[in-house]
Parts: sequence; structure tokens; C-alpha cells
Amino acid sequence: MSSNESSTPHTCDFFIPSKGVPGEILGTMMQKEMAGDIPPSQDLGRFTTTKFDGVAINLMDISGTRNQACIEEYPSLARFQENCVAILANLWKAPHNFFGTATTGSSEAVLLGGLTMKRQWQLKNPDRQNTRPNVLIGANAHICVRKFADYFDVEAKIIPVNERTRYTFDVMSLEENLDGNTIGVFLTLGSTYTGHYDPLQRVSEILDEYERRTGNNIPIHVDAASGGLITPFTSSNETFVWDFRLSRVQSINVSGHKYGMAPLAVGWMIWREKSQIPQNLLLESSYLRGTHANFTLTFSRSGAPIAGQYYNFHRLGISGYRDWVHTLLDRARLLSIWLEDTGYFHCLSDAHRQLLSNGIISNSADGHHTRCHENDQAAVPGLPIVVFTFADRVRQQYPRLRLSDVSDSMHDLKFSIPSYTLHGWGAQGEDIDVMRIVLRDEMTVELMAEVLKNVIHVVEELIDQPY
Ligand SMILES: Cc1ncc(COP(=O)(O)O)c(C=O)c1O
Repeated sequence: MSSNESSTPHTCDFFIPSKGVPGEILGTMMQKEMAGDIPPSQDLGRFTTTKFDGVAINLMDISGTRNQACIEEYPSLARFQENCVAILANLWKAPHNFFGTATTGSSEAVLLGGLTMKRQWQLKNPDRQNTRPNVLIGANAHICVRKFADYFDVEAKIIPVNERTRYTFDVMSLEENLDGNTIGVFLTLGSTYTGHYDPLQRVSEILDEYERRTGNNIPIHVDAASGGLITPFTSSNETFVWDFRLSRVQSINVSGHKYGMAPLAVGWMIWREKSQIPQNLLLESSYLRGTHANFTLTFSRSGAPIAGQYYNFHRLGISGYRDWVHTLLDRARLLSIWLEDTGYFHCLSDAHRQLLSNGIISNSADGHHTRCHENDQAAVPGLPIVVFTFADRVRQQYPRLRLSDVSDSMHDLKFSIPSYTLHGWGAQGEDIDVMRIVLRDEMTVELMAEVLKNVIHVVEELIDQPY
């Protein structure tokens, strides 16, 4: 069987039944089947929201039957959407003539950002209609960025990342990959795989210098799927400049259903200026007796995630978000330290490490990075996630021990902690196997302790297993 083929029975074996089943019986059957899944609260590698309060559930229930696309019928939802767009534009320091939209998630937003860049380049280069343009993408970018290049026929120049680049976009490789056919650079805040933030300020400076020399103006799109609603609420946002404060940043996206705490499925896309979007991408539709410019890839959508997003922004406010983000970052630090203290693991994510004033991540004398506890200002900016691998000593002593086996055993205990391979990301270009835990609302300190206890137990069982 090829890896693309499903192991579930062939879909042709299923037909709509000739006679329906009573709803209550069917509902019980379906719930029973779903009870075999991993409980969403124990799906520890996921970024998307699983917990809502009663008011949010009620609002989502009411808005879930309203189609977000029908703005004449449901102007309240259109207003909620506009309000959320403006909140994000202000949070990310956009100038007043910004433009934004809700999407089904960051993936759709990334496609829109890339499409804007491609059309801009085509308008600027009418003589190159038969030339295939290119886009620069770090190997740490989410799959949806490569999807943009594939689906919209743009060459993806993938810039490798590794331990030397601290698992982020390699600024040293930037210039040699630029040319007159480069439509833009995609950067990530922060990486799905390790939680690190790309060096936005440095890339922006290099592109400024490149424009001075060549006249080529190359924009940046920031895929801030997770970091867009983490960074603004940390003190490092003052010094780590990543948003519209950098004039080269043309557009930014975030997933509302991740750290926006909205239900699935909503993302947000903001462009610095409406005038940057080529006219042939903006479709006018009537709205509240006026007209409204529209730029999305989909039409009908549930209003529930938009209502959920609006509710969270206004329920929490800046102070609520700040407290919540700090709690998650503190827990990420604590879990990283606990994992390293077992002696079995080493964290690739830097949530518990300090950034020195010269920008270098600190190392203590024994070769381990100095750990950072409460002092948020000194912490390395990044997502509240913990990405870990076996410590060198463990790998040498137990060469047959596999993180994927740890992940499988945890799955049997109904905890999902994904394991994956970072291909060629090691210091010598070797592969690194890692596991990831994402800190979300439901990851309490008690749950963290339970997870840790189980992980240690599983590792020790695997070590004791006769091979
Ligand atoms: C950096 C990054 N970009 C894009 C995505 C895709 O986001 P969505 O699921 O909202 O489409 C993810 C999902 O984890 C991500 O981490």
C-alpha cells in the first residue's frame, strides 16, 4: 500500500441506507465510535483550541447557523469580522489604510498572501509573462507555504535550516537566492516544528540593502499562525520587531483557532495597505447598502468562529491575553526543565533559555544552556511549545530506543504527543527525531506532571524491553 492510500475500507463499500436510523440511536452509536478517539484535551501536539466557556458555546450555537458570506442578512457578523480585523491591524501596528479579511485558517491566508505577491510581480513585469517566478521559503515553513508555490505555479526556493541557524531562516543564504524573478520571502513566527521565530528584522535589512543596489523591491509575508497572538502580549515585542513596524512586511496572517482561542475554523489576514492588492484580486460585493471589497478563496462559512473570536478579544482584553500568554510561557519553561531534569531528554525549543544582551543564547559551563524561569524579558522569544529529543548520552547508551515508540506507547495511554523527523537539521546535516507538546489552556501543571510521569514510565519500559 502506498503511503497515500488509506487503511480504512474502500469508500465504495458504503451507501446511503435505504431507510434512515432514528436520530437518538444513531447519535449514541456515533458518540460511542468517537469515544475511541484521543480526547481533544489530551491531543497534546495540537495548536487548535479545545476549551470554551458556556457563554462562548451559546454564542457559537446561535452564530453557527448563520452564513458569514451573507452579509446583508447577518450584518452583526460582518461587524464582528471588521472589528477583529481592525483589532489585529492595530495590534500589529499597521498604518490606517490597512486591509484585512477572515479566512478559514492560516493556510488560506498564506495562499492569499502569496497570490498577492505573484500578481504584483506580474503587473510590474509585463514582459516576463512566460517566466516562472520564485519565492523564498525556509525549510522550517509550514507545508501550506509550499502548497502556495505548487498550486500557483511559483518556484519554491527552499532555504535549509539547521542547528547553526538555530532552526530558523538562514540569513546567510538569503542574498544568493534573490533575483529579478523573486516575488517575495515567507517568514515564520514561529515554527510549527520547534517554536522558533525567524529573524525578521535582519532579513528585512538585507532586503532593504538589496533594493538600494538593484532596485528590486521584495516584500515579506509573515506567517504568524501561532506567534501573531503570542508575541504582542510579551515584553519581548518591544525589542523583537517583526510586524508592520518593518516597512518591508506587506502582510501578516494568524490562526484565530490557535492562540486566538476561537473555535475551528478561522484565520485572519491583514495587508499593510489596501492599494498593495492588485485590483483584479478584489471583488466588490454589496454590503449594508454600500459595496465591500472581498478577497478570499471560499464563500459559505459558519459565523461561529468569527463570533468566538470577537468574544475572546473583548472578554479577555489586553490584560487577560497578557496573563494567559505569560502562564503558557511559564508552563513551557517548567515542562522543558522537568524533561531535561529526567536526564533522558534535551529540548530543541528555547522556551527555558536566556537571550544575552549580545543576542546570543546563553550556555553554562557544563555545556547546557542556562535556563530561564520567571524573567520573561530575558527569555528567548518563541512559542509556548516544548520540542525535545533524546539526550546524547541516552542515544549512545540505547541506540535502539526510538521516540516514535515513545509516541506510540503514549498514544496507547490516550495521550497524543506527535513525533517527527527534522530532516538534515542537525549540526552535521543529520536527521533529528523530536516530539512536541503544545501548551494550551487545558495543559495544567497537574496534567503536565501526569504526562511527565507517563513519559518516564514508557521510556523505562522501552529501555528494559529485550530486543
Ligand atoms: C506556522 C504555521 N503556518 C500555517 C499553519 C496552518 O494553519 P491552519 O491550520 O490555520 O490553516 C500552521 C498550523 O499549525 C502553522 O503552524
